[in-house]
Amino acid sequence: MEILKCEGIKKVYGSGANQVKALDGIDLVVNKGEFVAIIGASGSGKSTLLHILGNVDKPTEGKVVVGETDISASNKTQAALFRRRKVGLIYQFYNLIPTLTVRKNILMPLLLDKKKPNQEFFDQIVKSLGIADKLESLPNQLSGGQQQRAAIARSLIYRPALLLADEPTGNLDQKNSKEIIDMLKLSNHNLEQTIVFITHDEKIALEADRIITIADGRIINDERRR
Ligand SMILES: Nc1ncnc2c1ncn2[C@@H]1O[C@H](COP(=O)(O)OP(=O)(O)O)[C@@H](O)[C@H]1O
Ligand SMILES: [Mg+2]
Repeated sequence: MEILKCEGIKKVYGSGANQVKALDGIDLVVNKGEFVAIIGASGSGKSTLLHILGNVDKPTEGKVVVGETDISASNKTQAALFRRRKVGLIYQFYNLIPTLTVRKNILMPLLLDKKKPNQEFFDQIVKSLGIADKLESLPNQLSGGQQQRAAIARSLIYRPALLLADEPTGNLDQKNSKEIIDMLKLSNHNLEQTIVFITHDEKIALEADRIITIADGRIINDERRR
């Protein structure tokens, strides 16, 4: 079953002489439950593509459908709600709010919607991510690996069907990188989540079921490994 479909995605930044063509015709289908790595040189368009898939940014041309929703047609409010409820977004530098405890950071998507957390699910994710004893700490009291776990917990709190991660291990050492990828794998498996992540680490990419290579804003290779 398809969870994600892009047709003819183009993205141009700037105008006139300053124009940069970041994406130049991306067609892509991702099926439910896939664990996909996106690789490619710096500047090839990986982050731009992920931002468009997560409705953080809009394509200049083309269509993006996630689940039943044509997100390329959404307005600002719809886009913000989509990002909060329908996808999990994970970044290289975690993007936690420094003045809030880890607990509040994780619960933020629900707090913004004035929703009560499911305590059992909350306990389950913080336990499986190994941060149950860090909930009352501030982000800067945690190691990089722990901060990334907190960011992953936040991205999971709404149980999104689709998780998007931009170099989630880019700031971590080898041991922590492997652990983070293992956790994503577990989440892919246990919560039946579809995961698309960017990496420049070939070893990490080999953990994925499918590796998509981008160069100059185009998909130049798409390899299913299992
Ligand atoms: N906000 C922006 N404004 C102008 N150019 C941008 C912007 N974001 C990215 N670009 C350009 O688009 C191209 C693709 O960038 P990006 O998607 O960040 O690549 P990657 O993540 O693969 O390193 C690069 O040439 C980059 O400089
Ligand atoms: Mg990038």
